[in-house]
Amino acid sequence: MTAPYRAAITGLGAYLPEKVLTNADIEKIVDTTDEWIRTRTGICERRVAAPDQATSDLALPAAQEALKNAGITPQDLDLIIVATTSPDMIFPSASCYLQAKLGASCGAFDLAAACSGFAYALAVAEGFVKSGIYKNVLVVGAETITRFINWKDRGTCVLFGDGAGAAVVSRSKDGHGILASYLGADGNESEILQIPAGGSRIPPSAESVANGQHYIRMAGPELFKIAVKTMEQAVLKVLERENLQVKDINCLIPHQANNRILQAVAERLKIAPEKVFINVDRYGNMSSASTVVALYEAVKTGAVKKGDYVVLVAFGGGLTWGASLIKW
Ligand code: UT7
Repeated sequence: MTAPYRAAITGLGAYLPEKVLTNADIEKIVDTTDEWIRTRTGICERRVAAPDQATSDLALPAAQEALKNAGITPQDLDLIIVATTSPDMIFPSASCYLQAKLGASCGAFDLAAACSGFAYALAVAEGFVKSGIYKNVLVVGAETITRFINWKDRGTCVLFGDGAGAAVVSRSKDGHGILASYLGADGNESEILQIPAGGSRIPPSAESVANGQHYIRMAGPELFKIAVKTMEQAVLKVLERENLQVKDINCLIPHQANNRILQAVAERLKIAPEKVFINVDRYGNMSSASTVVALYEAVKTGAVKKGDYVVLVAFGGGLTWGASLIKW
């Protein structure tokens, strides 16, 4: 059955907090070196939200820019989805705070799929628009993930940064837009990347805080291998759905966890390195904000042009992964 409409990204926005934390700054906090961080991850610096900024505060300017670029107002929105693993609080959702700050009056919910959050939220928005249920959906990836970092753990504290990106998903007017989406998950591997406490399994207590269970825990090398394999497979899946090949991709926008992961994915796919968009050097891993901020920058710098085939692919805790094939 052919869907009544095609969904397209009609406006993008991004917001990065002002404070820059360089590798040299981190050298003063834990036993690490700029050289180790650069060679093992490709990261040079990352952004950190100001103490009075929560996730919805980062989401707001990104959302406002995306709405402006799409040429619509908050009142035109039918739904807001905020992909985040670091919401303002357990509830209300960050999306409800964002809805109020924008002055919108539509439905709003958060989506938790860790670093794959934006890919998941984009696929949900695509479904609503494609089916004709909604005309305009605001999809945001926003994180203040540095609040959940153990600054004594050199294995994780060098990796993450804060930021937000937003996309308006509307009915395509010219046939361009999202051609295929693919989502995957493996809950059996949930312990590889998690924040163990703060939920119903381990509620906050003096003991959970003393044990540092409210911080991100990660089995880096295991995750590395799975990330490379699943991102490669997710890219191939969306291409397959439209009978396209890797050589047809003009720009690959991968989740920015580690430059070595991006190189390994590129090698496995045999895609030219210049087609892979990279900004992990400037922002580190911003979890669900990474892919949308990368897409925003790729469009802004001309790495993505009208008519290009763009593949967005992400991987993260859950485990989760997902990809979208877009005709820009
Ligand atoms: O967004 C979700 C997806 N996230 C990911 O996919 C992350 C995937 N994993 C990775 O990116 C990498 O595994 C890391 C960057 C986290 C770690 O890199 P690695 O090359 O896998 O290092 P490792 O964990 O195997 O550690 C190698 C060595 C160890 O020392 P020994 O045991 O060989 O003496 C670590 O203690 O590097 C040491 N090390 C560090 N040294 C200096 C770990 N972190 C640091 C550090 N500075 N920051």
